[in-house]
Parts: sequence; C-alpha cells; structure tokens
Amino acid sequence: MTPTEEIKSKIDIVDFIGETVKLRRSGKSYTGFCPFHANTKSPSFYVFPDTQSWHCFGTCGTGGDIFNFVMKRENVEFGEALKTLAERAGVQLSARTPKNAEQDERIKKLREITEAAARYWHNLLINGSVAKGVRNYLTNRDVSQQSIVNFQLGYAPESWDALGNYLTVRGYQPKDIHDAGLTSERDNGGYYDRFRNRLMFPIRDIKGQTIGFGARALDELQQPKYLNSPQTVLFDKSAVLYGVDLARDAIRSQATAVIVEGYVDALMAHQCGFKNVVASMGTALTEMQLRTLQRLAKKFILALDADVAGLLAMQRGLDVAQRTLDKESVPVLASDLKTLEDRLKIDIRIAVLPSGYDPDDLLREDTAAWQTMLDGALPVVDYLIQIVTAPLDLSSAKGKAEAARTLVPLIQKMADPVERSHYLQELARRLRVDERALMEMHTRVQSAPSPRARDAKPQLPEKVAFSLEDYCLALLLRHPSELNNLERLGLRGDDFAQSENRQVFEVLKSWLEYEGSDDVPDLRDALADVLFARYETLIAHGSQYEPISVDEIERAVLRLRERVLRQHIERLRFLEDEAQRANEFDEMQDYRQRIASATEQLNWTQAAVFARSMAGRSQQRASATSEKAV
Ligand code: UTP
Ligand code: MN
Repeated sequence: MTPTEEIKSKIDIVDFIGETVKLRRSGKSYTGFCPFHANTKSPSFYVFPDTQSWHCFGTCGTGGDIFNFVMKRENVEFGEALKTLAERAGVQLSARTPKNAEQDERIKKLREITEAAARYWHNLLINGSVAKGVRNYLTNRDVSQQSIVNFQLGYAPESWDALGNYLTVRGYQPKDIHDAGLTSERDNGGYYDRFRNRLMFPIRDIKGQTIGFGARALDELQQPKYLNSPQTVLFDKSAVLYGVDLARDAIRSQATAVIVEGYVDALMAHQCGFKNVVASMGTALTEMQLRTLQRLAKKFILALDADVAGLLAMQRGLDVAQRTLDKESVPVLASDLKTLEDRLKIDIRIAVLPSGYDPDDLLREDTAAWQTMLDGALPVVDYLIQIVTAPLDLSSAKGKAEAARTLVPLIQKMADPVERSHYLQELARRLRVDERALMEMHTRVQSAPSPRARDAKPQLPEKVAFSLEDYCLALLLRHPSELNNLERLGLRGDDFAQSENRQVFEVLKSWLEYEGSDDVPDLRDALADVLFARYETLIAHGSQYEPISVDEIERAVLRLRERVLRQHIERLRFLEDEAQRANEFDEMQDYRQRIASATEQLNWTQAAVFARSMAGRSQQRASATSEKAV
C-alpha cells in the first residue's frame, strides 16, 4: 500500500470534511454548502463515501479526493497536503529513496562532465595553437566565427589523455568520465581519450544541454569519418536531432521543420539564415525524432540526397526494422513515412537535392537554389510514385505490374479513404490501366498477413493491479507529446480521481508547456519528492505495453473519459431526483440540462472509441490485451 492509499484507508472523507463543512445525509451521499465559493441558497457540495471523493456541482464544478480537498482549502501543494494528512493518520512518509537521489546526482555529474568537455574543446579550438590547422579547415569550409560559437564547435587534440587529465585535475572521477562516453577502457585497466584529433560537434537536446558529441576526422586516414558518443545515460542518438535547440524557435514560428542529414549541413543552413533546420545525424530518421519535432510544428521537409543510394539505404533499413522490436529506435523508411504521417498527424514532404550536392554544398553555392528545392518538396506518396516509376518502362506490361506491386500496398496503408482513392486513381491514370485492375490487386494485398515486426503484441502478465487511470497515465508519461493531441479528446486533470495521478498529470502538463522535449527522465526534476515513487512505478508499469500505438493511447484516454462521464451523469441523475423530490423545479431543470450536455459528450466519446476500434484489426487486438489489464 502506498502512503496515500494508507492515509485514505485511515481517514474517512465524510468524517474529515464533516469537521469543517456541515454535511447532511442525502441518499448514498452527503451534501452541504460548498466551502470554496459563496453559496447559501441550496447545497451544491457533495461528498461520496463509496468513492471517498467530493464534488461541487455549483460554481466550482470540481472535486477530487481528500488530498485535493486539503490542497484547495489550505491553498497548498500536494506534498504539503500529504504531510498534513499523513501526520493526522499517523502514517510514516519515507523521504525520497537514497537510490533515486543517487541516480539524480549521477546524471547531474555526467552533465557537468559533458559540459566541461565541450568548453575545454571549444576553448582549445578558439585559442589553442594546436588548433591552427582546424581553424584553417573551418575557414576553407566557410564556417563563420559566429557559427563556431553558436554551435560551440571544438577541437579534441591528438592525445591519449589531454581531456582525461583536464577533467581529473578538476576533480572528476575517471569512471564518471568514462560513463559520460568521453574515454575508452584499456584492456589492462585505465582509460584513454575517445576523441583524438577531431573536430567536435557538441550534440545538445532541445533545452540546449550538451548530451553527447559528433566528432569529424581531420585526417584522410582516420576512420570512421564521424565518430559519435556511445549510448550513455544522457545520450540516445535515436531520439535526438542535431541543432534542435537552436532551431526550436524558428521551427515553431515558421510551423515547419527542415531535416537534413549532416552536422555541417545543419550548421551551414543556420549560418545562411535558414534557422528551422535540424540534422538526423546520418542514420534514417526515427519516430522518436519526429515526435520531438511534432510538438513544435506539423510540417516537415526531409532534404534527401539525390542518389538512389539513399533509397537503397531505406530498403536495407526495412530489414532491420522487421527484426527489431524496439519501436523507438526503428528507423523511418520511405514506405513508412506515410503511415507515420497519418499516425502523428503531420505533413511530411520530401525535397530532393540536385545530384552530387549535399545541403552544405548547395547552400554555399546558391541559397536561392536551396529555397527552390524546399518549395518543390513533394508529399511522400507523390514522391514515392515518382521515384518508383522513374526507372520503369510504364508502357510495358512488366513495368506496370512492377509499379503496381510496389505502390499499391503503400497506398493501401493510407488512413484517409479520400486520399487513398485519390492516389489509386492517380496511379491508374499513370499506368494507363483500369482502376478496377488496381483495386483487385489492392484487395489481394490487403488480405495478406502483415510481416511487420512492430505489429507484434506485447505479452501482458495475467494479473495487473493497475486501474484504467494508472494505465492512461503510464502511457502518457512514456509518450508525453501525445498530450497535445489529447486535449481535443477532453482529457483534464480532474479526470484522474487519484490525487497522486492528478498531480503527476498536472506536472507533466505544465512541464510540457514550458519545456520542449520528450526527454521523459527530466520530469523527475520537476516532481516533488513525494510523487517520485509514484512516477517510477508508472513508468515501469507503462514499459510492458511498448510498443504502443497512438491509437491505443487515444483509446485508453477515451475510455477513461467515458468512465468519468458515466459517473458524472449518474451523480447528476441522483441530484435531479433529489431536486424533484424537494420540488425545486429550477434546479431540476438545471440538472437536466447538464445531464443532456454530459450525455452528448459521452456519445461523442463512445463514437470516438468505436472509430478507433474500427481503425484496424491489429489495433483491436492490442486493445483487447490492454483491456484485460485494467
Ligand atoms: P556524410 O558522410 O554525408 O558527411 O554523413 P557530411 O555531413 O557531408 O560531412 P562533411 O561535409 O563531409 O564534413 C552525413 C552524416 O552522417 C553521420 C554524421 O552525422 C554526418 O554528418 N555520419 C557519417 C556518422 O555518424 N558517421 C560516419 O562515419 C559518417
Ligand atoms: Mn558535407
């Protein structure tokens, strides 16, 4: 039992509220004048012993449990209310566990070390005599002094221990330096600098905190060309975009993000005044990266290399995706872009670079050509139709069949029926075949089983003692960016009856409003100690449902809304009856209206749940599994 549960089991809400509010029994519940707003005519404040909750049906229109009551009455934070009630109930509150505090300390230390390394290398690049060659190199590449400063470029000297020594002298432990990804381990123990004679690109998260590095070779013989930080506690390459901290405001104000591949490409774009540009850092774009940006803008332009190698790379990526179950690191493939676009409700366009150019070359040569290229960006499907049909002879039967085989499954994946039919028509027109012939193929493809690994469903334990609202919150904590979409579904803090959940939800919400990242662990800093354990439990709870689809998150939230609305309506009906018995006609009317409006919302919610259940058989399976859990 958690401390809040224990407190609730020890303090009866009717007794407790009854001490300060005069309550009168009324059916299954108790009623009185709301202590939070002036009302003397008729009691609008209710306390429900069965759910140990209260609700004001008057001006406040709010309610909650015993904790919310104390918070509102005393105007204090959750932690304070918890302390007050724990004392009264005689429940011992343990402070934040040492393990968590330790973990926090560690992350803080690693951050410090990473920042110190970035400063050290940057300083060396600007002032060091050893960095003269690199400074020339940058000048030759037209990288301005301003860019060097903005991106905090650095120089890691040709040395096995320069950084290691610099940091240990400043009191950092070799083990910590290694854990920050800055050194490698020798076979016989001890460490040596990982980055030597390289141009350093600090990689920062959306808040501008340095979390890792990309390091370019400066010598033809050095391999690899770019050496990146290893995966560390701070650095997860699949979730971060280079330059996002500097691009954030421009992406938001222009409502568009441009995604390039390379470090230098992003830097040069910024230098040329295109500040809404970020780099995917070479690998295929991942869903996590898109999710980070989705909160800033709904329109994305991918600037892709002209050579077919790019496309081939994506086809290779497909195999990898099929083998991996870790959804957050599944690269985005050409054929998946459309699915993602639908799922994340974003608009993805593809801009193709002139052959032989990367963005850096093009920008330095002709910024107008860069702009023209962006203006000519094509929607994903148009682009794919173009790229697939280009090498084919569409006048031959073979060419037509080949094009249909590749493109029809893609079109079939589209969520929007209008779009689907549009592209089927378009393809039929291009191939000069009967649309029905295409349709036939369409149905055949549809009935084939999907080989996609990410459709595999997670195995759930048989018995899970978590409630529906726990489930919802756990999913939201793992996919905070979905919150933006969920407001239109009507989700509010009040929907969470458990005050710990409600608090965590509110913290998550306000945190998202002020911070720009999906970097979930950081939420821990924002949480009061008392909510920490709850948060950890929820995060762990949520992990078993991964990979989870956006549809399932929405369904979970809608089901919660449904439950809340039902309960609300039930209570309003009860109040309506009461009013009728007391011959309070005006109030009865009032309750009726509110029942009608809540019922309307309920109908809408149920329709929305239904729509999502119809969205796909695979999703139905997914939700059936999770239904068991709640
Ligand atoms: P490129 O090889 O196209 O390099 O890799 P680039 O960005 O044009 O770099 P310059 O202009 O030669 O300096 C594109 C991106 O792929 C990642 C890096 O993020 C790079 O910017 N990459 C490339 C690696 O991570 N490792 C590599 O070995 C190569
Ligand atoms: Mn380049």
